[in-house]
Amino acid sequence: MWWQEAVIYQIYPRSFQDSDGDGVGDLPGITQRLDQLVDLGVDAFWLSPIYPSPLADFGYDVSDYTGIDPQFGTLDDFDELVAAAHERGLQVLLDLVASHTSIEHPWFREHPDRYIWSPVDGPPNNWVSAFGGPAWSRDEKTGRWYLHSFYPEQPDLNWRNAEVVAAMQDVVRFWLGRGVDGFRLDAIDRLVKDEQLRDDPPASKPFPLPLHPDAAPLEMRYSGNRPEAIEVLRALREAAGDTLLVGELFRPVGEYAPWLEVLDLVFAFEFLFSPWDAERLRAAIEPAAELGRVAWVMSNHDFDRLATRVGRQNLRAAAVLLLTLPGVAFLYQGDELGLANGPGAATTYDRAGRDRLRHPMPWDASGGFTRGEPWLPLVDPETLNAADARADPGSLLNLYRRLIELRRTLGASFRLLDAEPGVVAFERDGHTVAVNTTAELRTAPEGEPVLATHDREDLPAHAALIVRN
Ligand code: GLC
Repeated sequence: MWWQEAVIYQIYPRSFQDSDGDGVGDLPGITQRLDQLVDLGVDAFWLSPIYPSPLADFGYDVSDYTGIDPQFGTLDDFDELVAAAHERGLQVLLDLVASHTSIEHPWFREHPDRYIWSPVDGPPNNWVSAFGGPAWSRDEKTGRWYLHSFYPEQPDLNWRNAEVVAAMQDVVRFWLGRGVDGFRLDAIDRLVKDEQLRDDPPASKPFPLPLHPDAAPLEMRYSGNRPEAIEVLRALREAAGDTLLVGELFRPVGEYAPWLEVLDLVFAFEFLFSPWDAERLRAAIEPAAELGRVAWVMSNHDFDRLATRVGRQNLRAAAVLLLTLPGVAFLYQGDELGLANGPGAATTYDRAGRDRLRHPMPWDASGGFTRGEPWLPLVDPETLNAADARADPGSLLNLYRRLIELRRTLGASFRLLDAEPGVVAFERDGHTVAVNTTAELRTAPEGEPVLATHDREDLPAHAALIVRN
């Protein structure tokens, strides 16, 4: 399978490359920039949603699953992108947003039975939206209350209705027919809900991943996280054949095993959220590595950027860690440059506060993203941009390039090692990787250095080192 050791690059299409000057990234823009991905050395890219969308959740509110939003281009542009990617040996993943549609999807009016409605005049239970507030809203047109696990503009599909299953299987087949190599499955823990709409019980212990304060006091036992979802995913798997399916399951890794009966990979979210602390990182890595088939990931379009979360001083060591763990790694666009959270938009686009993670790519000192007015401003392209980074042998970008090349030689084995306090160390087929998460000097592992984040023999503050034993 092509993906077993793959590095998969997440493209946020609005912010990658604009080709027509409207200030919004688009598919021809991505096609123009594919050589940059080849140069970086990644194997594949995942496109955040490109379907027609009223943009309440920036594409995660889909109004047509088999179209392309006109701002991004056309189906022809899509075909060209896929062909150009395949010519370069790059695989293409789409984002399948299956748990809900946009409220403007024609199904909402034409097939209301494909959604979940309250049997009473009001919310039938205590379920809470992931973005806070009740998960039920009143439909002004009919006066009935519908379920939305996310924004009210994103009504949840009723996956107990066989029509929904069949329609989404068709969607999968449609894109496979256009050459797609796999899917990232959005929010699958929300796919199926309790048939009796029972109240979620109070949480008995803190959830290991960050939740909206409205959601944190409840255990998601009935509003989602249902074992029936795995059956539904079986139907998607049937349509997808053996193409790559990566699940966004916002749950602790200890719960992933049954989902991996139908999915290839699940994102390692405890790893993503781990503080930059050796003990915590080890605790996140160990069970995930043992399970195997997790997608290592340190940031995406939903959470603080890596530079903001771990601090700029730790970016090199974080790159070493992400890219030397065994299996598949996901990389969010701009992390290879070290982009931090930006200021966001003057007038907020995303009500959940995620604009600042989605600023356009700074391709060169003048921007290079658009010849028009960017939908979100670029953040200081003069100081941080891809062209300058590529030209500087000591840049973070070039470290990513070297790591992506080197990881192919690391072999399959993996063993966490005992290490000094503050150090994450592990063995990969004849190599030792050591990552110093502290601001103090540590001892370097013995062996012949093959890659270091610094040019010293020891393991200084914030450094990482790979040696051949
Ligand atoms: C996923 C997406 C996020 C979106 C949500 C609802 O978590 O990554 O961006 O808001 O699902 O579709």
